[in-house]
Amino acid sequence: NDQRMAGSPRQQLAKLFEESLRLTIPEELDIDPAIAPCQNPKFGDYQCNNAMGLWSKVKGKSTQFKNPQQIGQAIKANLPSSEMLDGSSIAGPGFVNVKLSGQWIAKSIQNMLMDGIETWAPKLSVKRAVVDFSSPNIAKEMHVGHLRSTIIGDTLARMLEYSNVEVLRRNHVGDWGTQFGMLIEFLFEKFPSLEVVNDQAIGDLEDMLAFYKASKLRFDSDPDFKERAQRAVVSLQAGEEKYRKAWAEICKISRTGYEKVYEHLGVELEEKGESFYNPYIPNALELLNKKGLIEESEGARVIFIEGKKIPLIVVKRDGGYNYASTDLAALWYRLNEEKAEWIIYVTDVGQREHFEMLFAAAKRAGWLPADDKTYPKASHVGFGLVLGEDGKRFRTRSTETVKLVDLLIEAKSRCKTALIERGKDKEWTGEELDKTAEAVGYGAVKYADLKNNRTTNYTFSFDQMLNDKGNTAVYLLYAHARICSIIRKSGKDIEELKKVGKIDLAHPDERVLGLHLLQFAEVVEDSCTNLLPNGLCEYLYNLSEDFTGFYTNCQVVGSAEETSRLLLCEATAVVMRKCFHLLGITPVYKI
Ligand code: ARG
Repeated sequence: NDQRMAGSPRQQLAKLFEESLRLTIPEELDIDPAIAPCQNPKFGDYQCNNAMGLWSKVKGKSTQFKNPQQIGQAIKANLPSSEMLDGSSIAGPGFVNVKLSGQWIAKSIQNMLMDGIETWAPKLSVKRAVVDFSSPNIAKEMHVGHLRSTIIGDTLARMLEYSNVEVLRRNHVGDWGTQFGMLIEFLFEKFPSLEVVNDQAIGDLEDMLAFYKASKLRFDSDPDFKERAQRAVVSLQAGEEKYRKAWAEICKISRTGYEKVYEHLGVELEEKGESFYNPYIPNALELLNKKGLIEESEGARVIFIEGKKIPLIVVKRDGGYNYASTDLAALWYRLNEEKAEWIIYVTDVGQREHFEMLFAAAKRAGWLPADDKTYPKASHVGFGLVLGEDGKRFRTRSTETVKLVDLLIEAKSRCKTALIERGKDKEWTGEELDKTAEAVGYGAVKYADLKNNRTTNYTFSFDQMLNDKGNTAVYLLYAHARICSIIRKSGKDIEELKKVGKIDLAHPDERVLGLHLLQFAEVVEDSCTNLLPNGLCEYLYNLSEDFTGFYTNCQVVGSAEETSRLLLCEATAVVMRKCFHLLGITPVYKI
């Protein structure tokens, strides 16, 4: 029973090796066990890599050890006996390889089937995190970059939530700044009879981007208008009723646009836009000023950062605040009011410099610890561009950037066409067809984005992402559906089997699959700590490959091992579903 909730194999092995290291070299107490999967499965499942590092510490001092290999030998000899191990060996200059017991792997999987996959959740040392993601700008376009931020941010939030971290999902929308003077004035001009826009006008303004562009044109070409717009900013910031209302209307219209995207994607976010932090800016800047961080430079107030040519501007020359002033106030708020231990910002890599400066300023102020190992911690999750198949920045046929909702709708409709071509419209109800097309279509868009290392650019291609072969959501969702159908067709009650059946990993392909299942928590943990969701995608793809290996070589239904193998099918389906869930993808059960 203590096997339940005991952590991933890596964590449990770390405990065993910790004990062994303490016995081996008692004078080096704070050595962390370095445990990793074996490079070559021929040698074992996991290896402990501490011998070399320890050797460099005791070399010349120790009478007991003459070389790293001897340290490795001692580590191996001092390993406490455990039911999880099935032998160990030494390789190279002291690597200790261990093989896990097949029975132990089987039992761990059985326990998971009984107690639920939540028992496999990784244990992280953070309790509360802010994930700042999506964050489009009011009245400007919500572009594919914001789609990437939404998809990546949602996945990171889901993985942290699964790991029992309380996540504050924050939509840091750009809803403040001088552009609002121009927008408000233009609104008054277009709707002179309505000081504040009514619903009819909202309909007319649906294309906010066009509205933005028209008002910008007016701003740039008419000095009179420009002056009024500048006065409007002052009135807005002074809190004048009429201006506040107009501002709120403009925000509301924009919001209905991007909320449509969130609804399609099933993403939840809480909007705390730039305007929210505005009242906190003076206080935050005062705190930084008291620490002597803020200096005068060319009429602006700035913070100099070591190693950076340009300083972080925190008050502009005209006395106004900017993006950085808001982010300083938001960081202060998140640390002190929301008590977040980890603050994660998901934007394109183009903003790396901004965040480096922001974090450096916070470290200088003592808001964040100087090293990146202790909490509270701030991390910038940068991602690359979305490219079209022509290798250029992704656009649609028209000159405008892609309307995001249309992208999702197209993915879905292409999936529907493919399903109809396979005759599914005759087999399924209209609702089933629609639901499946939606799950596969949206899943494909998300997975195509997440499977790449986020820092690289990626090419948006419907043909690639909707391919039912290769590393795509379509392939993986179908693989899952096929496993479900194997179980269904067996005619066995899987809930009953879970209670009475036993898993046995006698065949090598069963063992490979079993071990891979067990490594799920390690992969989620790594994806969280490195903030790289592509690790989880890779795991999911490899899992389906291992399943194929198993299914090709091991007969399931009608074999002597049927019960054990059906349970292995079920465990694979459960882990796959959890992967889908963490990636924000809706699983499908039949195909
Ligand atoms: N609105 C910004 C943009 O569209 C992203 C905001 C990111 N979050 C932040 N706290 N700066 O580029």
